[in-house]
Amino acid sequence: MPLSVVILAAGKGTRMKSSTPKVLHKLANKPLLEHVYDTAKELGAEEVIVIYGHGGEVVKNTCKHFDAKWVEQKKQLGTGHAVMQAFDSLNLNNTVLVLYGDVPLTKKVSLDALLKDAEGKVSLLSVNLDNPFGYGRILRNQQNKVTGIVEQKDATAEQQKIQEVNTGILACKGETLKQLLDKIDNKNSQGEYYLTDIFELAEKENIEIKTAQPEASYEVEGINNRLQLATLERIFQKNSAAELMTNGVTLADPARIDIRGNADISNDVYIDINAVLEGNVKIGTGTNIGPNCFIINSTIGENVNIKANCVIENTTIENNCVVGPYARLRPETHLSKNSKIGNFVEIKKANIGEGSKVNHLSYVGDTEMGKNVNVGAGTITCNYDGANKHKTIIGDNVFVGSDTQLVAPVNIADGVTIAAGATITKDVAEDVLVISRSPQKTISGWERPKKKP
Ligand code: UD1
Ligand code: CA
Repeated sequence: MPLSVVILAAGKGTRMKSSTPKVLHKLANKPLLEHVYDTAKELGAEEVIVIYGHGGEVVKNTCKHFDAKWVEQKKQLGTGHAVMQAFDSLNLNNTVLVLYGDVPLTKKVSLDALLKDAEGKVSLLSVNLDNPFGYGRILRNQQNKVTGIVEQKDATAEQQKIQEVNTGILACKGETLKQLLDKIDNKNSQGEYYLTDIFELAEKENIEIKTAQPEASYEVEGINNRLQLATLERIFQKNSAAELMTNGVTLADPARIDIRGNADISNDVYIDINAVLEGNVKIGTGTNIGPNCFIINSTIGENVNIKANCVIENTTIENNCVVGPYARLRPETHLSKNSKIGNFVEIKKANIGEGSKVNHLSYVGDTEMGKNVNVGAGTITCNYDGANKHKTIIGDNVFVGSDTQLVAPVNIADGVTIAAGATITKDVAEDVLVISRSPQKTISGWERPKKKP
Protein backbone atom coordinates (compact mmCIF):
# COMPACT_ATOMS: atom_id res chain seq x y z
CA MET A 1 0.00 0.00 0.00
CA PRO A 2 1.38 3.48 -0.83
CA LEU A 3 2.71 5.39 2.12
CA SER A 4 1.92 8.82 3.52
CA VAL A 5 4.17 10.12 6.27
CA VAL A 6 2.91 12.67 8.77
CA ILE A 7 5.70 14.44 10.66
CA LEU A 8 4.68 16.16 13.89
CA ALA A 9 6.75 19.26 14.38
CA ALA A 10 4.50 21.74 16.16
CA GLY A 11 6.12 21.57 19.59
CA LYS A 12 7.74 24.69 21.08
CA GLY A 13 10.89 23.07 22.37
CA THR A 14 11.07 25.36 25.41
CA ARG A 15 13.91 23.38 26.96
CA MET A 16 16.26 24.18 24.08
CA LYS A 17 16.23 27.78 25.43
CA SER A 18 16.59 29.01 21.90
CA SER A 19 15.09 31.52 19.49
CA THR A 20 15.40 28.81 16.83
CA PRO A 21 12.51 26.33 16.68
CA LYS A 22 13.63 22.97 18.02
CA VAL A 23 13.25 21.03 14.77
CA LEU A 24 15.64 23.43 13.04
CA HIS A 25 18.48 22.71 15.44
CA LYS A 26 21.10 20.80 13.55
CA LEU A 27 22.49 17.32 13.93
CA ALA A 28 25.50 16.66 11.69
CA ASN A 29 24.85 20.12 10.22
CA LYS A 30 21.35 19.16 9.03
CA PRO A 31 18.11 20.29 10.70
CA LEU A 32 16.49 17.62 12.83
CA LEU A 33 13.35 17.86 10.71
CA GLU A 34 15.34 17.18 7.56
CA HIS A 35 16.70 13.96 9.02
CA VAL A 36 13.12 12.80 9.52
CA TYR A 37 12.06 14.02 6.08
CA ASP A 38 14.96 12.15 4.48
CA THR A 39 13.93 8.99 6.31
CA ALA A 40 10.38 9.40 4.95
CA LYS A 41 11.77 9.74 1.42
CA GLU A 42 14.03 6.74 1.96
CA LEU A 43 10.93 4.73 2.83
CA GLY A 44 9.47 5.73 -0.53
CA ALA A 45 6.69 7.90 0.91
CA GLU A 46 4.25 9.04 -1.77
CA GLU A 47 3.41 12.12 0.29
CA VAL A 48 4.91 13.83 3.31
CA ILE A 49 2.85 16.13 5.49
CA VAL A 50 4.57 18.32 8.05
CA ILE A 51 2.46 19.58 10.93
CA TYR A 52 4.02 22.80 12.12
CA GLY A 53 3.12 25.28 14.78
CA HIS A 54 5.40 27.46 16.83
CA GLY A 55 7.83 29.41 14.65
CA GLY A 56 6.18 27.80 11.69
CA GLU A 57 7.16 30.30 9.03
CA VAL A 58 10.85 29.95 9.83
CA VAL A 59 10.55 26.17 9.68
CA LYS A 60 8.74 26.32 6.34
CA ASN A 61 11.23 28.77 4.84
CA THR A 62 14.26 26.85 6.00
CA CYS A 63 12.83 23.63 4.60
CA LYS A 64 11.24 25.00 1.44
CA HIS A 65 13.17 22.50 -0.67
CA PHE A 66 11.09 19.68 0.86
CA ASP A 67 8.58 18.00 -1.41
CA ALA A 68 6.00 18.16 1.37
CA LYS A 69 2.63 19.58 2.32
CA TRP A 70 2.70 22.01 5.23
CA VAL A 71 -0.22 22.11 7.62
CA GLU A 72 -0.41 24.47 10.54
CA GLN A 73 -1.64 23.27 13.91
CA LYS A 74 -2.74 26.59 15.36
CA LYS A 75 -3.11 25.39 18.94
CA GLN A 76 -1.18 22.50 20.36
CA LEU A 77 -3.99 20.45 21.75
CA GLY A 78 -2.13 17.16 21.78
CA THR A 79 -0.58 14.58 19.46
CA GLY A 80 -3.98 13.21 18.40
CA HIS A 81 -5.17 16.69 17.48
CA ALA A 82 -1.91 17.26 15.58
CA VAL A 83 -2.41 14.16 13.40
CA MET A 84 -6.05 15.13 12.74
CA GLN A 85 -4.82 18.32 11.06
CA ALA A 86 -3.34 16.17 8.28
CA PHE A 87 -6.55 14.45 7.20
CA ASP A 88 -7.66 17.14 4.75
CA SER A 89 -4.33 16.89 2.95
CA LEU A 90 -3.59 13.21 2.84
CA ASN A 91 -4.76 10.23 0.83
CA LEU A 92 -6.83 8.22 3.29
CA ASN A 93 -6.37 5.06 1.20
CA ASN A 94 -2.65 5.11 2.01
CA THR A 95 -0.89 3.68 5.00
CA VAL A 96 -0.13 6.60 7.30
CA LEU A 97 3.11 6.56 9.27
CA VAL A 98 3.47 9.10 12.07
CA LEU A 99 7.00 10.36 12.72
CA TYR A 100 8.31 13.19 14.90
CA GLY A 101 10.37 16.17 13.83
CA ASP A 102 12.52 15.92 16.94
CA VAL A 103 13.31 12.19 16.66
CA PRO A 104 16.03 12.26 14.02
CA LEU A 105 17.80 8.91 13.98
CA THR A 106 15.11 6.31 13.30
CA LYS A 107 16.46 3.76 10.83
CA LYS A 108 14.70 2.55 7.71
CA VAL A 109 15.03 -1.11 8.79
CA SER A 110 13.15 -0.46 12.02
CA LEU A 111 10.35 1.34 10.19
CA ASP A 112 10.25 -1.38 7.53
CA ALA A 113 9.67 -3.87 10.33
CA LEU A 114 6.83 -1.69 11.67
CA LEU A 115 5.22 -1.38 8.23
CA LYS A 116 5.61 -5.04 7.24
CA ASP A 117 2.36 -7.05 7.27
CA ALA A 118 0.60 -4.03 8.77
CA GLU A 119 -2.44 -4.11 6.51
CA GLY A 120 -5.70 -3.98 8.47
CA LYS A 121 -3.82 -3.44 11.70
CA VAL A 122 -2.73 -0.58 13.88
CA SER A 123 1.02 -0.83 14.36
CA LEU A 124 3.14 0.77 17.00
CA LEU A 125 6.84 0.94 17.64
CA SER A 126 7.65 0.21 21.27
CA VAL A 127 10.89 -0.05 23.17
CA ASN A 128 11.94 -1.43 26.54
CA LEU A 129 13.69 1.09 28.74
CA ASP A 130 15.47 0.66 32.08
CA ASN A 131 14.09 4.03 33.04
CA PRO A 132 10.64 4.42 31.44
CA PHE A 133 9.78 7.61 33.33
CA GLY A 134 7.92 10.18 31.26
CA TYR A 135 6.82 7.83 28.51
CA GLY A 136 3.44 6.32 27.73
CA ARG A 137 3.40 2.70 28.96
CA ILE A 138 2.19 -0.17 26.79
CA LEU A 139 -0.62 -2.11 28.47
CA ARG A 140 -0.90 -5.80 27.58
CA ASN A 141 -3.40 -8.45 28.66
CA GLN A 142 -2.66 -11.99 29.82
CA GLN A 143 -2.42 -13.14 26.19
CA ASN A 144 0.26 -10.45 25.78
CA LYS A 145 -1.99 -8.51 23.43
CA VAL A 146 -1.80 -4.72 23.56
CA THR A 147 -4.92 -3.25 25.13
CA GLY A 148 -3.91 0.39 25.30
CA ILE A 149 -1.34 2.99 26.27
CA VAL A 150 -1.37 4.98 29.47
CA GLU A 151 0.57 8.25 29.73
CA GLN A 152 2.98 8.85 32.60
CA LYS A 153 0.74 11.47 34.14
CA ASP A 154 -2.32 9.22 33.99
CA ALA A 155 -0.62 5.98 35.06
CA THR A 156 -1.18 4.20 38.37
CA ALA A 157 1.83 3.28 40.50
CA GLU A 158 1.53 -0.28 39.21
CA GLN A 159 1.40 0.83 35.56
CA GLN A 160 4.42 3.07 36.10
CA LYS A 161 6.50 -0.06 36.66
CA ILE A 162 5.95 -1.17 33.05
CA GLN A 163 9.16 -0.84 31.09
CA GLU A 164 7.76 -1.28 27.60
CA VAL A 165 7.05 2.24 26.38
CA ASN A 166 5.44 3.94 23.43
CA THR A 167 7.88 5.61 21.04
CA GLY A 168 4.99 7.57 19.54
CA ILE A 169 5.80 6.20 16.09
CA LEU A 170 2.84 4.35 14.62
CA ALA A 171 1.30 3.26 11.35
CA CYS A 172 -2.27 2.60 10.26
CA LYS A 173 -4.40 2.88 7.16
CA GLY A 174 -5.54 6.51 6.77
CA GLU A 175 -9.26 5.73 6.89
CA THR A 176 -8.94 3.61 10.01
CA LEU A 177 -6.78 6.21 11.72
CA LYS A 178 -9.33 8.89 10.97
CA GLN A 179 -12.23 6.76 12.23
CA LEU A 180 -10.40 6.09 15.47
CA LEU A 181 -9.22 9.66 16.03
CA ASP A 182 -12.76 10.96 15.44
CA LYS A 183 -13.70 9.16 18.65
CA ILE A 184 -11.02 10.36 21.04
CA ASP A 185 -11.56 13.06 23.63
CA ASN A 186 -9.36 15.16 25.91
CA LYS A 187 -10.58 13.87 29.26
CA ASN A 188 -7.19 13.19 30.81
CA SER A 189 -4.80 14.83 33.24
CA GLN A 190 -3.28 17.09 30.55
CA GLY A 191 -6.55 18.00 28.81
CA GLU A 192 -4.97 16.92 25.51
CA TYR A 193 -6.15 14.84 22.57
CA TYR A 194 -3.86 11.86 22.90
CA LEU A 195 -2.90 10.02 19.72
CA THR A 196 -2.22 7.05 21.94
CA ASP A 197 -5.93 6.68 22.81
CA ILE A 198 -6.51 5.03 19.43
CA PHE A 199 -5.02 1.77 20.73
CA GLU A 200 -7.63 1.23 23.43
CA LEU A 201 -10.32 2.03 20.85
CA ALA A 202 -8.75 -0.35 18.33
CA GLU A 203 -8.70 -3.11 20.90
CA LYS A 204 -12.40 -2.55 21.63
CA GLU A 205 -13.20 -2.67 17.93
CA ASN A 206 -11.18 -5.85 17.41
CA ILE A 207 -8.63 -4.19 15.18
CA GLU A 208 -5.41 -6.09 15.60
CA ILE A 209 -2.55 -4.17 17.21
CA LYS A 210 0.87 -5.04 15.95
CA THR A 211 4.08 -4.04 17.72
CA ALA A 212 7.62 -3.79 16.41
CA GLN A 213 10.82 -2.71 18.10
CA PRO A 214 13.75 -0.70 16.78
CA GLU A 215 17.24 -2.18 16.60
CA ALA A 216 18.55 0.38 19.09
CA SER A 217 16.83 2.67 21.56
CA TYR A 218 18.62 5.82 20.34
CA GLU A 219 16.56 5.48 17.14
CA VAL A 220 13.42 6.53 18.98
CA GLU A 221 14.96 9.10 21.29
CA GLY A 222 13.59 12.58 20.94
CA ILE A 223 15.52 15.77 21.51
CA ASN A 224 14.25 18.17 24.15
CA ASN A 225 17.42 19.91 25.23
CA ARG A 226 20.96 20.55 24.03
CA LEU A 227 22.35 17.73 26.12
CA GLN A 228 20.22 15.22 24.26
CA LEU A 229 21.16 16.90 20.99
CA ALA A 230 24.85 16.42 21.75
CA THR A 231 24.29 12.82 22.82
CA LEU A 232 22.57 11.92 19.56
CA GLU A 233 25.18 13.85 17.56
CA ARG A 234 27.89 11.64 19.09
CA ILE A 235 25.90 8.49 18.33
CA PHE A 236 25.44 9.64 14.74
CA GLN A 237 29.16 10.38 14.38
CA LYS A 238 30.14 7.08 15.95
CA ASN A 239 27.96 5.28 13.40
CA SER A 240 29.41 7.30 10.50
CA ALA A 241 32.94 6.48 11.63
CA ALA A 242 32.09 2.79 11.95
CA GLU A 243 30.69 2.77 8.42
CA LEU A 244 33.86 4.37 7.03
CA MET A 245 36.07 1.84 8.77
CA THR A 246 33.90 -1.01 7.52
CA ASN A 247 34.46 0.35 4.01
CA GLY A 248 38.24 0.21 4.43
CA VAL A 249 39.10 3.70 5.66
CA THR A 250 41.64 3.95 8.50
CA LEU A 251 40.77 6.47 11.19
CA ALA A 252 43.44 7.49 13.70
CA ASP A 253 40.62 7.85 16.23
CA PRO A 254 36.98 7.12 15.34
CA ALA A 255 35.90 9.45 18.16
CA ARG A 256 37.67 12.40 16.56
CA ILE A 257 36.15 12.71 13.11
CA ASP A 258 32.91 14.49 12.25
CA ILE A 259 31.01 13.86 9.05
CA ARG A 260 28.47 16.58 8.33
CA GLY A 261 27.14 15.60 4.96
CA ASN A 262 27.90 12.93 2.39
CA ALA A 263 31.39 11.58 2.61
CA ASP A 264 32.32 9.29 -0.26
CA ILE A 265 35.67 7.98 0.89
CA SER A 266 37.53 5.19 -0.88
CA ASN A 267 39.34 2.36 0.81
CA ASP A 268 42.91 2.80 2.01
CA VAL A 269 42.39 6.42 2.84
CA TYR A 270 44.03 7.39 6.13
CA ILE A 271 42.41 10.14 8.20
CA ASP A 272 44.25 11.54 11.17
CA ILE A 273 42.51 13.12 14.18
CA ASN A 274 40.06 16.04 14.20
CA ALA A 275 38.94 15.95 10.59
CA VAL A 276 35.66 17.70 9.88
CA LEU A 277 34.11 16.85 6.52
CA GLU A 278 31.16 18.98 5.51
CA GLY A 279 28.77 18.76 2.55
CA ASN A 280 29.74 16.49 -0.33
CA VAL A 281 33.30 15.33 0.14
CA LYS A 282 34.91 12.73 -2.09
CA ILE A 283 38.35 11.28 -1.35
CA GLY A 284 40.20 8.80 -3.57
CA THR A 285 42.12 5.72 -2.54
CA GLY A 286 45.56 6.01 -0.98
CA THR A 287 45.04 9.59 0.13
CA ASN A 288 46.27 10.79 3.49
CA ILE A 289 44.49 13.48 5.49
CA GLY A 290 46.65 14.99 8.22
CA PRO A 291 45.44 16.15 11.63
CA ASN A 292 42.96 19.06 12.05
CA CYS A 293 41.71 19.42 8.50
CA PHE A 294 38.39 21.05 7.61
CA ILE A 295 37.17 19.92 4.18
CA ILE A 296 33.98 21.30 2.67
CA ASN A 297 32.29 20.28 -0.61
CA SER A 298 35.49 19.13 -2.26
CA THR A 299 36.82 16.31 -4.40
CA ILE A 300 40.24 14.95 -3.60
CA GLY A 301 41.88 12.39 -5.90
CA GLU A 302 44.07 9.37 -5.24
CA ASN A 303 47.37 9.33 -3.37
CA VAL A 304 47.05 12.94 -2.35
CA ASN A 305 48.84 14.06 0.77
CA ILE A 306 46.96 16.70 2.73
CA LYS A 307 49.20 17.66 5.62
CA ALA A 308 48.08 19.05 8.98
CA ASN A 309 45.77 22.03 9.52
CA CYS A 310 44.38 22.69 6.06
CA VAL A 311 41.05 24.33 5.23
CA ILE A 312 39.75 23.22 1.84
CA GLU A 313 36.48 24.45 0.36
CA ASN A 314 34.79 23.90 -3.02
CA THR A 315 38.06 22.64 -4.38
CA THR A 316 39.13 19.87 -6.75
CA ILE A 317 42.46 18.22 -6.15
CA GLU A 318 43.77 15.75 -8.72
CA ASN A 319 45.91 12.70 -8.02
CA ASN A 320 49.31 12.84 -6.31
CA CYS A 321 49.11 16.44 -5.11
CA VAL A 322 50.65 17.59 -1.85
CA VAL A 323 48.92 20.27 0.19
CA GLY A 324 49.87 22.01 3.42
CA PRO A 325 50.57 22.07 6.27
CA TYR A 326 48.49 25.22 6.90
CA ALA A 327 47.13 25.70 3.40
CA ARG A 328 43.86 27.44 2.68
CA LEU A 329 42.18 26.43 -0.54
CA ARG A 330 39.19 28.65 -1.15
CA PRO A 331 36.28 28.08 -3.53
CA GLU A 332 36.97 27.26 -7.19
CA THR A 333 40.49 26.09 -6.65
CA HIS A 334 41.62 23.34 -9.00
CA LEU A 335 44.92 21.59 -8.43
CA SER A 336 46.06 19.53 -11.42
CA LYS A 337 47.94 16.30 -10.80
CA ASN A 338 51.33 16.35 -9.10
CA SER A 339 51.00 19.96 -8.08
CA LYS A 340 52.11 21.19 -4.70
CA ILE A 341 50.72 23.83 -2.37
CA GLY A 342 52.87 24.50 0.66
CA ASN A 343 52.54 26.21 4.01
CA PHE A 344 50.71 29.48 4.61
CA VAL A 345 49.47 29.63 1.04
CA GLU A 346 46.02 30.84 0.07
CA ILE A 347 44.55 29.91 -3.29
CA LYS A 348 41.23 31.20 -4.60
CA LYS A 349 39.46 30.66 -7.94
CA ALA A 350 42.60 29.42 -9.60
CA ASN A 351 43.81 26.58 -11.76
CA ILE A 352 47.20 25.32 -10.77
CA GLY A 353 48.73 23.37 -13.68
CA GLU A 354 50.24 19.91 -13.56
CA GLY A 355 53.45 19.72 -11.53
CA SER A 356 53.37 23.38 -10.52
CA LYS A 357 54.43 24.47 -7.05
CA VAL A 358 53.35 27.27 -4.76
CA ASN A 359 55.31 26.33 -1.72
CA HIS A 360 55.51 29.19 0.76
CA LEU A 361 53.52 32.17 2.02
CA SER A 362 51.74 33.16 -1.19
CA TYR A 363 48.35 34.36 -2.36
CA VAL A 364 47.16 33.19 -5.75
CA GLY A 365 43.68 34.30 -6.78
CA ASP A 366 41.78 34.55 -10.08
CA THR A 367 44.63 32.84 -11.84
CA GLU A 368 45.24 30.42 -14.71
CA MET A 369 48.60 28.78 -14.13
CA GLY A 370 50.30 26.42 -16.62
CA LYS A 371 52.45 23.35 -16.05
CA ASN A 372 55.68 23.13 -14.08
CA VAL A 373 55.54 26.65 -12.77
CA ASN A 374 57.54 27.47 -9.68
CA VAL A 375 56.14 30.25 -7.57
CA GLY A 376 58.67 31.61 -5.09
CA ALA A 377 57.96 32.47 -1.47
CA GLY A 378 55.81 35.48 -0.75
CA THR A 379 54.40 35.89 -4.24
CA ILE A 380 51.11 37.76 -4.44
CA THR A 381 48.64 38.08 -7.26
CA CYS A 382 47.21 41.59 -6.86
CA ASN A 383 43.83 40.62 -8.25
CA TYR A 384 41.70 43.38 -6.76
CA ASP A 385 41.86 47.07 -7.62
CA GLY A 386 39.48 48.10 -4.88
CA ALA A 387 36.46 47.71 -7.13
CA ASN A 388 36.93 44.78 -9.51
CA LYS A 389 38.75 41.47 -9.67
CA HIS A 390 41.24 40.85 -12.48
CA LYS A 391 42.89 37.80 -13.88
CA THR A 392 46.50 36.67 -13.84
CA ILE A 393 47.61 34.27 -16.57
CA ILE A 394 50.86 32.38 -16.15
CA GLY A 395 52.18 30.08 -18.91
CA ASP A 396 54.08 26.79 -18.64
CA ASN A 397 57.56 26.55 -17.12
CA VAL A 398 57.47 30.02 -15.62
CA PHE A 399 59.76 30.78 -12.69
CA VAL A 400 58.38 33.44 -10.38
CA GLY A 401 61.07 34.80 -8.06
CA SER A 402 60.31 35.30 -4.39
CA ASP A 403 58.39 38.35 -3.22
CA THR A 404 56.89 39.11 -6.60
CA GLN A 405 53.67 41.05 -7.08
CA LEU A 406 51.72 40.24 -10.20
CA VAL A 407 49.39 43.18 -10.71
CA ALA A 408 46.37 41.89 -12.59
CA PRO A 409 45.22 41.89 -15.32
CA VAL A 410 48.55 40.53 -16.44
CA ASN A 411 49.77 37.77 -18.75
CA ILE A 412 53.10 36.00 -18.26
CA ALA A 413 53.96 33.87 -21.30
CA ASP A 414 55.65 30.41 -21.27
CA GLY A 415 59.19 30.07 -20.04
CA VAL A 416 59.48 33.49 -18.42
CA THR A 417 61.84 34.01 -15.50
CA ILE A 418 60.85 36.72 -13.06
CA ALA A 419 63.63 37.94 -10.83
CA ALA A 420 62.93 38.19 -7.11
CA GLY A 421 61.22 41.25 -5.75
CA ALA A 422 59.50 42.21 -9.01
CA THR A 423 56.34 44.21 -9.38
CA ILE A 424 54.93 43.10 -12.72
CA THR A 425 52.38 45.47 -14.18
CA LYS A 426 52.74 44.73 -17.91
CA ASP A 427 52.41 41.55 -19.94
CA VAL A 428 55.68 39.60 -20.39
CA ALA A 429 56.58 37.77 -23.63
CA GLU A 430 57.94 34.19 -23.81
CA ASP A 431 61.29 33.03 -22.49
CA VAL A 432 62.65 36.35 -21.20
CA LEU A 433 64.09 37.38 -17.86
CA VAL A 434 62.21 40.23 -16.31
CA ILE A 435 63.61 42.32 -13.50
CA SER A 436 61.75 45.17 -11.87
CA ARG A 437 63.70 46.39 -8.94
CA SER A 438 65.48 49.64 -8.05
CA PRO A 439 69.24 49.34 -8.48
CA GLN A 440 71.18 48.54 -5.32
CA LYS A 441 73.18 51.48 -3.94
CA THR A 442 76.00 51.39 -1.43
CA ILE A 443 76.68 54.33 0.86
CA SER A 444 79.92 53.91 2.76
CA GLY A 445 80.71 55.39 6.14
CA TRP A 446 77.04 55.47 7.06
CA GLU A 447 76.37 56.27 10.66
CA ARG A 448 73.16 55.11 12.25
CA PRO A 449 71.13 57.70 14.15
CA LYS A 450 71.80 57.57 17.88
CA LYS A 451 69.39 58.10 20.77
CA LYS A 452 69.50 61.55 22.32
CA PRO A 453 71.10 61.48 25.77
C1 UD1 B 1 4.21 11.20 23.50
C2 UD1 B 1 3.28 10.01 23.65
C3 UD1 B 1 3.87 9.01 24.64
C4 UD1 B 1 5.25 8.58 24.16
C5 UD1 B 1 6.13 9.79 23.92
C6 UD1 B 1 7.41 9.39 23.25
C7 UD1 B 1 1.03 10.91 23.35
C8 UD1 B 1 -0.20 11.36 24.03
N1 UD1 B 1 2.01 10.49 24.14
O1 UD1 B 1 4.28 11.82 24.78
O2 UD1 B 1 3.04 7.88 24.75
O3 UD1 B 1 5.84 7.73 25.10
O4 UD1 B 1 5.47 10.73 23.04
O5 UD1 B 1 8.28 10.46 23.19
O6 UD1 B 1 1.11 10.93 22.13
N2 UD1 B 1 3.18 17.64 19.09
C9 UD1 B 1 2.55 18.42 18.17
N3 UD1 B 1 1.36 18.99 18.49
C10 UD1 B 1 0.77 18.81 19.69
C11 UD1 B 1 1.43 18.02 20.65
C12 UD1 B 1 2.63 17.45 20.31
O7 UD1 B 1 3.05 18.60 17.06
O8 UD1 B 1 -0.31 19.37 19.89
C13 UD1 B 1 4.48 17.02 18.76
C14 UD1 B 1 5.60 17.62 19.58
O9 UD1 B 1 6.26 18.60 18.83
C15 UD1 B 1 6.50 16.46 19.83
C16 UD1 B 1 5.62 15.24 19.71
O10 UD1 B 1 4.43 15.67 19.07
O11 UD1 B 1 7.49 16.34 18.84
C17 UD1 B 1 5.33 14.59 21.05
O12 UD1 B 1 4.61 15.47 21.85
P1 UD1 B 1 4.78 15.54 23.42
O13 UD1 B 1 3.73 16.40 23.99
O14 UD1 B 1 6.18 15.81 23.76
O15 UD1 B 1 4.43 14.03 23.80
P2 UD1 B 1 4.91 13.29 25.06
O16 UD1 B 1 4.22 13.86 26.23
O17 UD1 B 1 6.35 13.16 25.09
CA1 CA C 1 2.78 16.22 26.46
